[in-house]
Amino acid sequence: MRQLLDEAAKGGYGVGAFNVNNMEQIQSIMEAARETKSPVIVQASRGARAYSQDRFLYHLMIAATEIYPEIPLVLHLDHGNSPETCKSAIDMGFTSVMMDGSLMADGKTPSSFEYNVKVTREVVEMAHDKGVTVEGEIGCLGGIEDGHGAGGDGLSHLTDPEQAIAFVEQTGVDALAIAIGTSHGAYKFSSKPTGETLKMDTLIAIHKRLPDTHLVMHGSSSVPKDLQDVINQYGGKLKPTWGVPVEEIQLGIKNGVRKINVDTDNRLAITGAIRKVFMEKPEEFDPRSYMKPARDAMKKVVAQRMTQFGQAGHAGDYKPIPLDEMRAFYQGMLASV
Ligand code: G3H
Ligand code: 13P
Ligand code: ZN
Repeated sequence: MRQLLDEAAKGGYGVGAFNVNNMEQIQSIMEAARETKSPVIVQASRGARAYSQDRFLYHLMIAATEIYPEIPLVLHLDHGNSPETCKSAIDMGFTSVMMDGSLMADGKTPSSFEYNVKVTREVVEMAHDKGVTVEGEIGCLGGIEDGHGAGGDGLSHLTDPEQAIAFVEQTGVDALAIAIGTSHGAYKFSSKPTGETLKMDTLIAIHKRLPDTHLVMHGSSSVPKDLQDVINQYGGKLKPTWGVPVEEIQLGIKNGVRKINVDTDNRLAITGAIRKVFMEKPEEFDPRSYMKPARDAMKKVVAQRMTQFGQAGHAGDYKPIPLDEMRAFYQGMLASV
């Protein structure tokens, strides 16, 4: 992932990181990548690893590299909660891991700066020794909707720009997730976000102090009204809600954001498509009759985001560097300190 983010920084674009739990989601992302000629970050949470089992995920990713050889492809661990979780992902073949030490291992309790530095540094040493990339997080996301987050409205644990500098210096992370008021899930904002609720000024202040650090925006689904409407039209019960507008993400990309995490928008697209088939064709019982429209709906969202984030057209810009060469790259960085 380090190479992919370095290339994105050179080209001035962002790269979506899309969560997966099964074959259809991987297929949606890969088809969108082929259509838009995009490099790809596929990410799996601890929940996804438990749901799909690591070996299934591993072999699905191998299949993706065989079927789409022209697409540079990263498998990233989303929100690793401990060095042990990160180690098990690296042992399984993930080429990038997130050590989320902003929270304790329960994924809920905000940690101390010292704890965060300690566990993240430990993962950086272990991962770089294998050529694997590391994302860390400073400041905590709000909410708790999908099990990760400090609760509250997202403004209680914003990233302090000065602490961000110290964190990057003391850990050596390749990418830095920051807290600017977003949270995971569909219910991020109760009205269209303003500068008071989505702190793009904090992001810009961090980028000014850390111009060479790849920033990561979590909780970046836009929760579009049309996707909400499909779900509610076919019997769903979503309450009115707002996500992160794409134009704010694009402002972030102009200010150092290179990785943008999106899961909820794809969940909404899949659920809407399945509900539509269930309501319109209650006689259907072949899973393919609803999984195929679901896969197409997710592919459409992913292709749209790839275009909006600017990664479209960049799949052929470079050849992926193997992990042993990345290991040598990190050793060279250490030698020059
Ligand atoms: O981390 C947030 C992603 O939306 C993944 O959610 O833990 O329910 O798989 P999950
Ligand atoms: P969303 O819930 O906004 O899609 O965020 C996903 C995310 O940040 C995964 O780490
Ligand atoms: Zn996240």
